[in-house]
Amino acid sequence: MSTPAPDLDFIKKNFPEPAPRPVLPLLKGQKALVTGASSGIGKAVAIALGRAGADVVVNYASAPESAEAVAAEIRKSGSQALAIKADVSNEAEVKAMFAEMLQKFGTVDILVNNAGLQKDAAFHEMTLAQWQRVIDVNLTGQFLCSREAICEFKRRGVVQKVSCSAGKIVCISSVHDIIPWAGHVNYAASKGGVALMMKSIAQEVAPLRIRCNSVSPGAIRTPINTAAWSTPEAYASLLTLIPYRRIGEAEEIGRAAVWLASDDSDYVTGATLYVDGGMTLYPGFDTGG
Ligand code: BGC
Repeated sequence: MSTPAPDLDFIKKNFPEPAPRPVLPLLKGQKALVTGASSGIGKAVAIALGRAGADVVVNYASAPESAEAVAAEIRKSGSQALAIKADVSNEAEVKAMFAEMLQKFGTVDILVNNAGLQKDAAFHEMTLAQWQRVIDVNLTGQFLCSREAICEFKRRGVVQKVSCSAGKIVCISSVHDIIPWAGHVNYAASKGGVALMMKSIAQEVAPLRIRCNSVSPGAIRTPINTAAWSTPEAYASLLTLIPYRRIGEAEEIGRAAVWLASDDSDYVTGATLYVDGGMTLYPGFDTGG
C-alpha cells in the first residue's frame, strides 16, 4: 500500500500543541523503566513519569539521539534520566539493561512495557519473519521485561515511604487486544496475547502487592500510524471509527500511565484501561442495528 505524502498545512491547523497542564508529583522517589521510549507513546509516557517525579530509564532499540533528547527533557523537570539501549526481545540485553538500572538507580518500582511495532501484510502473504518479529517485540519483550521487574519487586518488597505496593507494571497494549484487525493479524495476535498475559501476571503476583494493568490506546497521533491521520482524506476516514471524533495525543496515554503507576490506583490490578475516544464502542452501530 503506498502512503500519500503528509499534508503539512492540514497537520498544523488540526493538531495544535496541547496547552500545558498542572502535574502532581504522584511518583516522587520512584524509579521507572519505559521500553521503546525514544518516540511516540513511549516518549510521552517517559516524560510524563519524569514530570510526576519519577527517575526514568529511557530504553531504546536504535535511535540514541532521540533517546538522549527524551532523557534531557526529563531532566528539565528535575528528575534523573538515563538512556539505555536494548532490544526487548533479546533476553541477554534485557537482563543487562535491568542490571545497569539497578546499579545506577538502586531498584525499579515501575515498568512500562511500551516497545512495539507493526509489520503489516495481507495474511496469505505474511512471512514467518513478519509474524515472528511482531510477536518477539510486542509480546515476548513484555514477558522478558516483566519477569526481570518482578524478580526485583519480590526481592525488595514494599517500601512504605515510596509506594504502598511492591511494584507496578503497565503494559501498553492496543484496542486491537479486543478489536480484530484484518491486514494486521500478527499485531492483533500479539496484543491479544498481552491482554491475557497481563491478567495472568496480575493474578499471580497480587498477593505480593505487585500490580499489573494495561493501557490500551486507540488511534494516537504518532509515527506508527502517520498514514491514518496526515491527510484530510485519511483523517476523515479515521474519524468514522472514533465516536469522540478526534485522534488521541500521546500525552493522554502518558497521563493514564502515571495514574496506573501511582498509589492513586492502588486497588486496580488486572485491568485494561481503553484510552480510545470510544473506538471500542462498536461505532458502526451508532445509527441502529
Ligand atoms: C495501532 C495504530 C492504529 C490504532 C487504532 C494501534 O494499536 O498501532 O496503527 O491506528 O491501533 O487502530
